[in-house]
Amino acid sequence: MPELTLFPQPQQVERQAGEFTLNAHTRLFSHEGEIAEQLARYLRPATSFDLPAHPLDDDILSDAHNAIVLVAADDEMADEAYALDVAPERVTLRASHRHGFLRAMQTLRQLLPPQILADAPQTGIAWTIPCVIINDAPAFGWRGLHLDVGRHMFPVDFIKKLIDAMAFYKFNTFHWHLTEDQGWRLESKKYPRLTEIGSKRAETQLPSDPQRWDGQPYGGFYTQEEAREIVAYAAERGITVVPEIEMPGHAVAALTAYPELGCIGAGYEVRRTWGIADDIFCAGKDEVFSFLQDVLAEVLELFPSIYIHVGGDEAPKERWAACPKCQARIKAEGLADENELQSWFVRQIDSWLNERGRVLVGWDEILEGGLAPNAIVMSWRGSDGGIAAANAGHDVVMTPNTYCYLDYYQHEDWTREPPAIARTLILPQVWQFDVIPDDIAEDKRHHILGGQGNIWTEYIPRAGHVEYMAFPRAIAIADVLWNHPADRDYDDLTARLRAHRPCLDALGLNYRPLED
Ligand code: ACM
Ligand code: ZN
Repeated sequence: MPELTLFPQPQQVERQAGEFTLNAHTRLFSHEGEIAEQLARYLRPATSFDLPAHPLDDDILSDAHNAIVLVAADDEMADEAYALDVAPERVTLRASHRHGFLRAMQTLRQLLPPQILADAPQTGIAWTIPCVIINDAPAFGWRGLHLDVGRHMFPVDFIKKLIDAMAFYKFNTFHWHLTEDQGWRLESKKYPRLTEIGSKRAETQLPSDPQRWDGQPYGGFYTQEEAREIVAYAAERGITVVPEIEMPGHAVAALTAYPELGCIGAGYEVRRTWGIADDIFCAGKDEVFSFLQDVLAEVLELFPSIYIHVGGDEAPKERWAACPKCQARIKAEGLADENELQSWFVRQIDSWLNERGRVLVGWDEILEGGLAPNAIVMSWRGSDGGIAAANAGHDVVMTPNTYCYLDYYQHEDWTREPPAIARTLILPQVWQFDVIPDDIAEDKRHHILGGQGNIWTEYIPRAGHVEYMAFPRAIAIADVLWNHPADRDYDDLTARLRAHRPCLDALGLNYRPLED
C-alpha cells in the first residue's frame, strides 16, 4: 500500500485495505446539522454533489452505507482531537468539539484527490478516500502564523486565502500585526485620524537600494466591518485572530495622526524608511493611556480572542530619557529607570486587559524592567526570552527568529532569491524548530503554549510574494507544532513535500519551488 502524505502528520495512522468512494448518493449524518453542512461546503464545489445532511441516531452508526458520519464522542476528547475511520462502506469522524471535527475535515480533504480543493466542478474524477484509521490531536495549542500589514497591506480576499491555507495545515491562530511606524491599518471610530493620516506614507524605501525611495504614496486600512468579516471567516475555520496594536514603540503612524501623544509632541511623519524609530508613545502623559484604552476598547469589540498582543518590541528610550513628563512619571512611581518605565507602561495595559477578561501578549522585550504579572511572552530574539519567561512561570509562544522568521531568505545564495531582509532561514533549519529548549525546567514545559511563523513585510509588497515566503516553510512549522516529532529526518520531510505538491498546486499557492 502506498504511504499517505498528510501535513501535518497525524499522531497515529493505520492504513487499511480498500477505499471509500464519495458519489452523488453519499449522505452525511451528524448529531448537529451545522457541522455536517460545513463538511458539505468543503466537498460540494469540486464534486457538485448535494451531500444532504441527516440527523444521526444510533443504528446508523453501524448500518449506514455510502455515508459520512460525524459522531459527537461521549468520551471527552481534547478541543482539537479527532478520530477518523475510513472504511469501504462509510467514513466516521469522531470528536467532542467543533474544532476536532474541523481538523478531521482537513485530514479528509487531504486524503481525497487534490482536485477536491478546486472551487469549481471537476469532471471525471473518482472521489476515493483510502481506508485508514487515524487518531489525532495536536502537541501544542498555539499554532500560529503572523502577518505584518503595517509595512505592506494585502486585500481582504488574500487574508481569507491565507486563512484557508492555514486551516488546511491545522494552524489555529492568525496573529494580525495591524499597526506600525509605516502605517496604521485598522479603522477606529473614535480616532479617525489614525487611518485618515496614519494609514498613508509619502513613499517607500526601495529594497534594491536603501538609499532610494520609490516616490509613490502608499496607504490603506481595514474597516471595522472588514475586520469583523475576517474574524468570522477565521472562526468558521477554527482559527482565532489575535490582533496586535503596537506600544510603546512602532507607533510613529499614530503619533503623526495625534502628535500630542509623543514626548516631543510635533514633527512626526508616517515613516517611509524601515528600521527602528526613536519616537514612541510618551509614558508620562495620562492622555496616552486614555487613548490606548479607547483604541483597545474598540479592538476588544472586534476581536473575541482572549489574547491581545500589544507589541512592546524595539522601543528605544532616548525620548523618555529627555522628556520631563516621562522623568516625572519615573519619580512619581518610584521606578529605577526607563526600562522599569516600559515595564510600568505594560503593566497598566496588562491590568486594564485583565479587568476585561483578556490576556496581554508582548514580544520578549516586555521582560526588561520586569514582566507584567499576567502577561504572556512571545519569544522572537531567539529562545532566551521564552526560556526566562517560562522558568518564571509565564506562558510563552515560541517564535524565535532563528527558526520562525519567514521574511528571511530561503537560500544561502541571496542572488537566487527576491530581495529580502538580510538574514537567512533555510527549510532544513525551520524543520529543526526547537519549541521547548532543554533550558526550560521539566515542571515549566507546560508554559510553552506553542509557536508560530512570522511574516514581516518590509520587502514583501504583494500577496503572491507572501505565499512565496510562507510556503513551504510554514508547512514545516505546522508539522512540528502539531506532532512535535523527536526525530526530524530532512530527507523524509522533502520527500513528503514533493508527494504533497499536487495539493500545493491545487490550493493555488505561489510556493517556493521544492528543491529536488
Ligand atoms: C520583531 O521582530 N521586532 C518582533
Ligand atoms: Zn514622554
